[in-house]
Amino acid sequence: MNNVFRGGHVLSLCQYQRSDLEMLFARADELAAMDRLCLNSRLTGRIMVTAFYQRSTRTRLAHESAIARLGGQTIGFVDPEITRAADFARESLDDVARMLVGYGDVLVLRHGERGVPARVAAWSAIPVINAGDGAGEHPTQAMVDLYTMRLRFGRLDGLRVLLMGDMRMRTANSLLLGLSLFDCQVSFVAPPEMQPHPDVLAYLAGVGVTPVRAPRTRDVLSEVDVLYVQPVVQPDTVTTPQAPPPTPPDYLVDLRLLRTYGHDRLLVLHPLPRHDELCQDVDDTEHNGYWTAATNGVLVRMALLDLMLGD
Ligand code: NCD
Repeated sequence: MNNVFRGGHVLSLCQYQRSDLEMLFARADELAAMDRLCLNSRLTGRIMVTAFYQRSTRTRLAHESAIARLGGQTIGFVDPEITRAADFARESLDDVARMLVGYGDVLVLRHGERGVPARVAAWSAIPVINAGDGAGEHPTQAMVDLYTMRLRFGRLDGLRVLLMGDMRMRTANSLLLGLSLFDCQVSFVAPPEMQPHPDVLAYLAGVGVTPVRAPRTRDVLSEVDVLYVQPVVQPDTVTTPQAPPPTPPDYLVDLRLLRTYGHDRLLVLHPLPRHDELCQDVDDTEHNGYWTAATNGVLVRMALLDLMLGD
């Protein structure tokens, strides 16, 4: 089967066919079954370069863990403040990227501005992974989310997925595009000013998918397999020094909501970090899929790097 990941950039879920993601998930399953010694020789000598112009916890560390488990190494920076971009030189990202592509075999790039990874990929001699570009996309997160759903239910086809919260987030964009490759029923609950991006809706319409706008989570929860929670209140310490307002009740998920309106097998996912929209009383229940997803973040990136860089 054709491996589109080999040497290719990972910029958007639009790039892939269903069979590509199936190949990725199958590789993740294979790697999960291998012992550490076998894994450790798969990417020996490969170097992953990380350039994080925006903060990250899971995405960066999961990529780093993934390449380390496969025997490769990481160099990079976690904050542009420690580079010449932050001093009087004000070195541009484009100049920095020109060097980084000579320092490793794959570049993992996160930036606050949409389209920056694609801009670098347009000339880069090594593959670029979009680790989140502003309100654009977060393709590897969607791969992790889809893999986690598949692991729980044994399939993606037929799943009923409800996304709630701010649908303008890059995680929502990528997940909506990824779900459209499978035969899923997709709906969302979002405030009027946080509706899905028109470009995403147009793309989905082009492939014959129309996500259903649902009134309130509680009204549809009994007919949902996966609840994908996202915040509607995002604390921004730079622009708002005071504590953020609490999340409105219609966008809060707690155990009472799940037990009252959902069914026993309902899987709750959240890209994290969470604020108050996902109550901690869900953590120790069978509904919690977000810790598993965070752990799967390593395995899915292992599979991706293995397909991209492996022999
Ligand atoms: C994202 C993050 O931390 O930036 N979460 C994640 O990568 N797991 C959420 C986001 O893209 O805003």
